[in-house]
Amino acid sequence: MPRVRRLLKELTNAHGPTGFEGPVRAIMRRELSPLVSDMKTDGVGSLIAHLVGSAESPRVMLSAHMDELGMLVKYITPEGFVKFQTLGGWLDQGIINQRYVILTRKGTVQGVTGLKTPHVMSAEDRAKAMKRDHMFIDVGATSSDDAKGRLGIRPGDPIAPDSTFVQLNGGKLYMGKAFDDRVGLAAMIEVIRSLNERRPPNSTFAVATVQEEIGLRGAQTSSYQVRPDIGINLEAGVAADYPGISSDEAQERLGDGPGIFLHDASMLPNLKLRDFVVEVAQARGIPVQFEVLSGYGEDGAEVQRSHEGVPSINITVPVRYLHNHNGVMNREDFNGAVELVSEVIRRMDAKTVADLRSFD
Ligand code: CO
Repeated sequence: MPRVRRLLKELTNAHGPTGFEGPVRAIMRRELSPLVSDMKTDGVGSLIAHLVGSAESPRVMLSAHMDELGMLVKYITPEGFVKFQTLGGWLDQGIINQRYVILTRKGTVQGVTGLKTPHVMSAEDRAKAMKRDHMFIDVGATSSDDAKGRLGIRPGDPIAPDSTFVQLNGGKLYMGKAFDDRVGLAAMIEVIRSLNERRPPNSTFAVATVQEEIGLRGAQTSSYQVRPDIGINLEAGVAADYPGISSDEAQERLGDGPGIFLHDASMLPNLKLRDFVVEVAQARGIPVQFEVLSGYGEDGAEVQRSHEGVPSINITVPVRYLHNHNGVMNREDFNGAVELVSEVIRRMDAKTVADLRSFD
């Protein structure tokens, strides 16, 4: 399997629910370590890799988050069913009747969020969506003691969606879980690989953050450590090119290139930086698209308001069906994002960054 597809497969199949990003961090460490001069972590587990360019400054922070939507074990019922606390923005109907893995001290435990059969439901009940408070994970245990003893399940153990990566019917589309934001991490690795071959006139920090899905926490701590002059966040964009979703909700389409957020609930990009990115895209013949969302939230917002403020932008690879067990992305959009971000960073010398940071 070619390198990038293998990387996306490994990153999306890895289990890293919010707060439990260890398996993803291990992949990032392995991939980035041959390409950068040093790596460290912040106090909550974000990985910060430093690529030294031909100049020590400006400092460019490239970020993407390692965590995915998940859960943790709340308690086990006397009958051996697992009750859970959700982590991140789940939809109730996205949780139910799906496969999960619980990561225990004894290894991986498989289970399913059981859903009552319609055979026994009234017409009224069939029309209702089940609420998460009533859900549980069936791990095939015979009792609470069986779940704790034989399977090793303890309160606080992380739970991740169980869904595997596939190339969708041989085409350019890939299907899998956690493209939000493993697609950003894979792009970050490829950008650093490119910058390692042709060094930029700056210091670039590739930061794989933790705990984005519950409030951008790792981006806050890591941006304080990095002290960037410019922030570029890589995320999964909201594709709106399938039945039942409208351009009023989101505007990105698979295959139309990387996206640039112009508005989301967490931040506005720096417009000079937007124009700079668009100019680079045009010069390189890379198609780009724009996204204006009323909701959402992303790590760029924390980078932007760290220290005395940092011109920042959020660049995406569009993904369908985010925050569910299966998303769909287009490989061409990924390639475009990697080339665009590599070229943008390669043009970020002291003069360019000083101009981007000037409000005169
Ligand atoms: Co995300």
